[in-house]
Amino acid sequence: MESFLWCIGLACEPQLEFCRTYLTKIGNLIFIIDDIYDIYGSIDELELFTSAVERWEINAIEVLPDYMKICFLALYNTVNEMAYTTLKEQGYSALQHLNKAWENFCRSMLVEAKWSKKNYMPTLEEYLANAWISSSTPLVHVHAFFASKQKITAEALDCLNSESDLAEQERGDVPSAIQCHMCETNATEKVAREKIRDIIKETWRKMNKSASDTPFSPSFVNIIENHARNAHCFYQHGDGISVQDNVGKKRVQALLVKPIV
Ligand SMILES: *[C@@H]1O[C@H](CO)[C@@H](O)[C@H](O)[C@H]1NC(C)=O
Ligand SMILES: *[C@@H]1O[C@H](CO)[C@@H](O)[C@H](O)[C@H]1NC(C)=O
Repeated sequence: MESFLWCIGLACEPQLEFCRTYLTKIGNLIFIIDDIYDIYGSIDELELFTSAVERWEINAIEVLPDYMKICFLALYNTVNEMAYTTLKEQGYSALQHLNKAWENFCRSMLVEAKWSKKNYMPTLEEYLANAWISSSTPLVHVHAFFASKQKITAEALDCLNSESDLAEQERGDVPSAIQCHMCETNATEKVAREKIRDIIKETWRKMNKSASDTPFSPSFVNIIENHARNAHCFYQHGDGISVQDNVGKKRVQALLVKPIV
């Protein structure tokens, strides 16, 4: 449900139904894989999962622990199906981009899992460089690009592959960034919050600026901007995704269930 809600925020137009459906599946996979790296997996198991994603072969499933097999297979089938659709409808083989994005995501999750096991507190810079990938932002952008059936040009693909200003945005788990900054500089929480707020503002400024100079269509720029807006909306009062409270429920009911009177 939360994943679907996020996707409505990204792409609400009627003609983007395929994009919403597909990204909802991707969102679920992100939540599950995030939990595997954060909670369930030992470092050895996580290394196996990461290398299975790097290999991107069906046989890789054999070396995984049982509880990871179904997740890997779901990931493999879902992403391959997207690649199949893009190849069939647009004549372009997108698998390299989709796969690369998952590889980077899993590697960054592995870095965080190792930090956490070692009780290592990264500097803010270290944290942000990794969290930019582990927040799944570039991963979602790559999938949104193909799922919303954008015109595939060399310039757009280059931009998608690079970390352009447009793609750089604040992530949801800022409380951790605040902690990193406090630990690194002995700043008070108030000062650290202001620092992060400045970074967010600066990032929006850059994003606004680069929105007018990009190889992407306005409709895709809108999806990317919506992604950043979503982060504000879902995380403005704490974790609005994984915390099951009344706020989320009311939001869903107001938006999707109850008729507008
Ligand atoms: C932070 O405070 C601790 C204890 O007062 C001190 O040992 C450390 O050097 C300080 N670190 C910085 C970066 O100021
Ligand atoms: C970015 O643009 C939006 C309008 O699209 C505006 O509301 C916002 O204030 C701008 N932010 C910055 C930091 O320039």
